[in-house]
Amino acid sequence: MSVLDDDRALIAARVRLVERIAAGDVVLSSRIAESFLNVPRHVFTPVFYRREGGDRFTPWRADDTGNAGGAWWDAVYSGESLITEVDGVHAEHAPSEGVSGVPTSSSTAPDLMADMLDALDPVPGARTLEIGTGSGYNAALLCRLVGADHVTTLDHTPHLVDTARERLEIASFAPDVVLGDGTTGWAGNAPYDRLIATASVPRIPTAWIEQCAPGAVLVVPLKGTLAGGSIAWLKKLPDGTAAGRLMHTPAAFMPLLPDTDHDVDEGAPRPAHWEPGHAGDQTRTSLLTPRVLDDWTFSFFAQLHLDPHTTRTFTRTDGRHITTLRTPDGGVTTVTETHSGAEVARSGGRDLWTPIERAHRLWLELNRPRREWFTLDAGPTGQHVRLAAPDGHAYTWTL
Ligand SMILES: C[S@@+](CC[C@H](N)C(=O)[O-])C[C@H]1O[C@@H](n2cnc3c(N)ncnc32)[C@H](O)[C@@H]1O
Repeated sequence: MSVLDDDRALIAARVRLVERIAAGDVVLSSRIAESFLNVPRHVFTPVFYRREGGDRFTPWRADDTGNAGGAWWDAVYSGESLITEVDGVHAEHAPSEGVSGVPTSSSTAPDLMADMLDALDPVPGARTLEIGTGSGYNAALLCRLVGADHVTTLDHTPHLVDTARERLEIASFAPDVVLGDGTTGWAGNAPYDRLIATASVPRIPTAWIEQCAPGAVLVVPLKGTLAGGSIAWLKKLPDGTAAGRLMHTPAAFMPLLPDTDHDVDEGAPRPAHWEPGHAGDQTRTSLLTPRVLDDWTFSFFAQLHLDPHTTRTFTRTDGRHITTLRTPDGGVTTVTETHSGAEVARSGGRDLWTPIERAHRLWLELNRPRREWFTLDAGPTGQHVRLAAPDGHAYTWTL
């Protein structure tokens, strides 16, 4: 029997999902648990990709495996993120042999969704904007929590917007699903009491803050040059600025991509998967291995010490981690892991590994500060990350 015909199997799958979320690090409130129990994820993800290794993905459909005990259903309700689009090719349109590339849309891991929804405090009636509709599953949860009439969700991909709208209707929700560039928010239904982004930004677009009402809560994944992902929780203040902190939760959301209809900021940080280039007419050794950047809390901290236009690529060759840093003025520094630290090779301009070494020394002096100790504020003088150290020293970095 297909699970589509078997309500009990479907309910059991959703109960298992909620139990999995509750068993993790997330504090699952009864309202958020209720929304996960009542919104079917499979309606929003009828086809998604399986990673076959490296950058190769093959589509996986519900009917490939059939019944409620099947691996497909387990995957949908497993708590994993489900990749639905690779380099703009939706899993529904992919050839059966698959595609190669970089994921550009996914249904986020439910435990991370639960954590972000809890932080958002989606009270009934709160006017809510979601940036990054994707599959529409998170929008459906928002509809359940605040009421569909109060939800606006936006994506820049026409196919995603159309299919999410259809699937939300199947699940009996009719929020405003709009096509647009998330960077500029959506003034149409402003002001908002809640704003949640499910794609990451290096800093918070000012339109998002402007379109929120005083007292609004914003939950926004931040990811910059070094891909050290964090989530910002902010409250809009009566003076029009916003202030808050970083959440405890690490998060590596895919980046909010520049819209092709708009000007591309050539200096903006690029995703950290781009192919590394070759560098090196000056070399030195370093005691700091590039593997330190695998620690997302440190890499978030380190990127606060870099020119924001620095880009990073990384790869592994013969098991060795190699990070390449570049600046728009042509500076390239390649850092290759060695037994004792790293070999640093640079060509053109500054040594781009030096600020990261300095950041690491400060990081150790500060006893590896936890992510949630950092505060964040955004106003007319810019966006700042701050840390009050136990010795009373106050640190400020520009985001
Ligand atoms: C992780 S997915 C969103 C997951 C979604 N909330 C869900 O529940 O399935 C990130 C989404 O951000 C969208 N996105 C990326 N850049 C964007 C932009 N500039 N404007 C609007 N949406 C964008 C992508 O198309 C993708 O669907």
